[in-house]
Amino acid sequence: MQNTVYLNGSFLPIEDACIPVTDRGFLFGDGVYEVIPAYGGRLLRLSHHLQRLQSSLDGIRLANPLSDAAWEEVFLQLLQRNRERAGPENDQSIYLQVTRGPAPKRDHSFPEHVTPTVYATANPIPAVDPEIATRGIAAVTLEDIRWQWCDIKAITLLANVLMRQRAADQDAAEALLIRDGLMIEGSSSNVFVIRDGVMQTPPKSQLMLPGITRDLVLELARAHKLPYRECDIPEATLRDAEEIWITSSTREIVPVTRLDAAPVGAGVPGPLWQVMTEHYRHYKTAVRSGNAG
Ligand code: PDD
Repeated sequence: MQNTVYLNGSFLPIEDACIPVTDRGFLFGDGVYEVIPAYGGRLLRLSHHLQRLQSSLDGIRLANPLSDAAWEEVFLQLLQRNRERAGPENDQSIYLQVTRGPAPKRDHSFPEHVTPTVYATANPIPAVDPEIATRGIAAVTLEDIRWQWCDIKAITLLANVLMRQRAADQDAAEALLIRDGLMIEGSSSNVFVIRDGVMQTPPKSQLMLPGITRDLVLELARAHKLPYRECDIPEATLRDAEEIWITSSTREIVPVTRLDAAPVGAGVPGPLWQVMTEHYRHYKTAVRSGNAG
């Protein structure tokens, strides 16, 4: 089955999608990206993702190459053209990347008159691994070695890659990042901690990515009257948590049941995770039927 991608205005087989080696994304990691899930062919929280894309582009001083309507058209085309590759549920995730484009000379400062490179793909979202619901995942804590502008969804992910690999080396699925004694987020996820039955997550700041899934979980908590707080989370609170979850567009809500090889709470996915996951599942059903964005 053909994997059709979008590159600079055209839809083409992935094997035929090529960019020049002078692309600043390749040479400098000079670009931003987004990941948008779609359930039953319908995009989840498209306007939120497009707003975050705009703020990432503003953050790197790059003009948005497409209007919101044009982006939506690209995504819908990709979902449709890759429909056969998705399972019967037709759950796919859109990945999009914008770089500053190819420049004739390798110079750190911005080149003049370059055309950004725009690339997007649609890939099936695999069904949730049942092992996660029964056993959860292991995570490790690591010092956050990233820069100060982590609210920009930059393609420059070397620090995240290295930290995730350090987690993988210890058979853990995520690294939870600590900066100045506070838990910030995961290497590719946001983090929730449950203490005394209250969901806690760090307030948004320049030091973390403002996760769309994070916001949705908080919205579901409000709607269902579940207690939550946006507050600083010292490392000690993390170690003393009843439950820990990570959230992201591709992984949704995942219970962390082992932290640095010690059990989290009872060492199994917790009761509040079960409740929130059910609310999230209902939300996805509403997205599928066109009753939620
Ligand atoms: N990552 N924090 C970081 C550092 C992330 O990379 C991500 C997502 C999140 C969660 O954001 P959202 O809920 O909007 O997906 C938080 C994506 C999925 C990735 O890099 O593939």
